[in-house]
Order: sequence, then structure tokens, then C-alpha cells
Amino acid sequence: MLAALTAPAIGRRADSTSLPPLASLTELMDPSLRLPVEQSLAARYSEWVAEALDEIQGCFLITDPGIAGHPIVFASRGFLAMSGYSLEEVLGRNGRIFQGLATDRRSVMEIREAIREERTLQISLLNYRKDGTPHWILFHLFPVFGVEDGRVVHFVAVQVPIRRRSKCLRSSAENRYDGGTGRFLVACRNEFRSDYELGCNPVVELFVDVDNRGLEAEESRQASEQEKEKARDAANSILSTLAHYSKLTGRVISDKRCSEAGISAINSSLVISLGRIKQSFVLSDPQLPQMPIVYASDEFLNLTGYSRHEVLGRECWFLNGPDTDADVLHQIRQSIQAEHSCTVRLLNYRKDRSWFWNLFHISPVRNATGKIAFYVSVQMDENAKSNEHGLSPHMRQLGVVGAVKVAVRSLSICAGPSRR
Ligand SMILES: Cc1cc2nc3c(=O)[nH]c(=O)nc-3n(C[C@H](O)[C@H](O)[C@H](O)COP(=O)(O)O)c2cc1C
Repeated sequence: MLAALTAPAIGRRADSTSLPPLASLTELMDPSLRLPVEQSLAARYSEWVAEALDEIQGCFLITDPGIAGHPIVFASRGFLAMSGYSLEEVLGRNGRIFQGLATDRRSVMEIREAIREERTLQISLLNYRKDGTPHWILFHLFPVFGVEDGRVVHFVAVQVPIRRRSKCLRSSAENRYDGGTGRFLVACRNEFRSDYELGCNPVVELFVDVDNRGLEAEESRQASEQEKEKARDAANSILSTLAHYSKLTGRVISDKRCSEAGISAINSSLVISLGRIKQSFVLSDPQLPQMPIVYASDEFLNLTGYSRHEVLGRECWFLNGPDTDADVLHQIRQSIQAEHSCTVRLLNYRKDRSWFWNLFHISPVRNATGKIAFYVSVQMDENAKSNEHGLSPHMRQLGVVGAVKVAVRSLSICAGPSRR
């Protein structure tokens, strides 16, 4: 945490003024998002990655699907200049804030699907700057996978402004034949205030850089091959920077899904849904040897003092210690074998070896086909104050289990690339 708070800023201001401290950029953010957003890049790629990303030309955003709301955790200088927003205004927000009335809903659906399926997408998209003016971009999205467990750790969206290649769409009958030159003069929109000469080609390509509010949001624009190439080049630079810096922390990334540890990959849409459940819980995968933990909530990490990478892939027994009652552990094992839920009170230990009485509940979670996809276990510190007045700990445990079941079932009905 200390490293992240003292790390260089996530990016520079659009006007290249000096870098503000990272924590000051997230001051206005929802407090529960602040630390996850601040730590997102530094924890995976080291604190030096922000400066390296800042050197890369072009407009791009990086988001973290593991944080509730799938927020932006990095915005390039080029993006800030293009959109007119400051870094403070975009960090912690979802990319949909740049959409507006004329943004095509089908394009937004395509982006949502690509995120759910964790795949690359290139699409033309109408977005809005801070001052409300619309502009067309080529939106090139790609996922970044953690090699250790094959999960998506970040998404990157490179954005290349699509230059106007206006077509003079009037019918050829409206075009005038200039007998003197033997060429057609085409009646173009008033905005261009002049006629453009054509050979025998019925379509004129015009490149106009000035902003024009009314015109921008009209007909859909297609990116040129050059613009597509530009997006791919920027994507490659970003990916190789991330790959390089991920080696500094040992938490290596790849543009392809691969799993060193053999831990099942949880679909990032499921991670987003689970992130909305603000209680301490973990999911374990019963189809893998030793039933390792494949998801841990932020509240679990806060309660136990472990970081996520210390928890994922471990068996769920590591909170036990010398004074944990062996009979209670036996009871939990039996309920797992019988595929039943179980509620117990047991002594557990945090990372710093301080102990707490854990009001523990474990339950199988079945997918839409009835197969057990996970075991969810909910942990509650008996002495912690709860602000959920009136609900007994057991009712709260059942609430978490219910929410996890809904998330798993709704996503397994429209299953993405992972087997969930
Ligand atoms: C890395 C990343 C960057 C994004 N940037 C933008 C953006 O600049 N403009 C935009 O319209 N949508 C952007 N999105 C898409 C939205 O965040 C959101 O995924 C999309 O609107 C579909 O989800 P929704 O239907 O829940 O809104 C981005 C998504 C990701 C993953």
C-alpha cells in the first residue's frame, strides 16, 4: 500500500503541467474505490509503469474489471487532450461516461459482449468530449491476462480519432457537368462552402480537421486502414510495456489466456458481479485438486490482511492455526463431501497472526445446469460492528450466498469463453 501511495502519478495532465501526487488525484473518488484504483497498476506492473505508459503516444484508457464498476485506472495524456477531461475526472469512472444521445446502442452492446467474452474488438464509436461535442473514434479494445491464473487483469482501449471522409451523397443528377473542363462539379454540403471537382469518381473524399458540432454526429464513420493500423501499433506498444513491467513484480501478463497454476479462470463479468457484494467471502473451485480459492472479495482481504495474489490458488484452510478446533474443521469437511451448507464458529488467524472468532458459513453454488460450480464461504468477525441493523449474522451470510448464486447462475446461462 505504501508503495502505491508514494508511486508516481498514474499519468500527466493534458497540459503537461507537473505531476500531482497520486493520492490527490483520487481524493474525490468513492472511498471504497480509492485504494483499489490507486494500486491497480502499481501492484501488477510496479510503480514505474505509469511513467512508461505516459511516454506512449496516442489516446488510450486502462480499466480494471476486478474492481466494482470496472473503473478507469489509467488515462493517457493524448486521451485527456482529446476528450477535454482532467485525470481526476476520469479515474474511478466507467468508460460509458463518454457516451451520449447519438452513441449507437448496438456498438455499446458489442463492447459489452467483447468484455464479457474477454476478446479483442475494433469498432467505430461516437463519443462526447467534456464540452459536449461529439467525435468519432476507432475503439480498439483488448484484454490483458495474468499468466498465473489466466484471468483478465486489465482491459486496454486505444482510441484513434477517425478523420472525416465525407461523401457528397447527392444524386448524380444534382451534380453539374462542367463542359469547359470536361469534369463533374459536385454539390456538397454547405459546411464545405465550395464545390469539389471530380474525375469520373462519383464520391469525393474530403479531410476536414476543424470541429463541426452538427456534422460530427451524423452518418456513421468507418476507419481507414491507416487508422486501424495506428490503433494496432499503439496496442502493441502498450502491451509490450505492460509485459515488460509485469516482470518486475513477477506477476507476468500476456495478451493470451494461459494458466501456469492451472487455476480456473473466472469470467471477468462474474468478477464484476461478485465485486458488487460488499461482504467478506471467497469462492473455491471443487473441480480442481485441493479446491483452491479462485475469488476473494475486497472485504475478505481487509478482514484477513492478505493481498489477493497471496490468497488466490490457496486452499481455504490457511486461516486456521494452532488453536482452531479440529472437530469444527472436520464438520466443515464433512459438509463439503455431502454437498451441504454448514455454519460454524471457529478461531481463525489473520496474516499478522492476530486471531478472531470467525462466524463461518459455507455453501455449494450450482450453475444453471445444476452442477456445483463453486463453494462460497462467508467470514464474519464476531466482534466487528455491523451497520446492517436488525439482520442476524446468519441472515447476512445467507444474503451473500443468495447474491453469489444469482451472479453465477445468470452468467452461466449466457456462458462466455470460460467454462462457468
Ligand atoms: C478499457 C475500456 C475503456 C473504455 N472506454 C470507453 C470510452 O472511451 N467510451 C465509451 O463509450 N465506452 C468505453 N468503454 C465501454 C464502457 O465502459 C462499457 O463497457 C460499455 O458502455 C458497455 O457496458 P454498459 O452496457 O454496461 O454500458 C470502455 C471499456 C473498457 C473496458
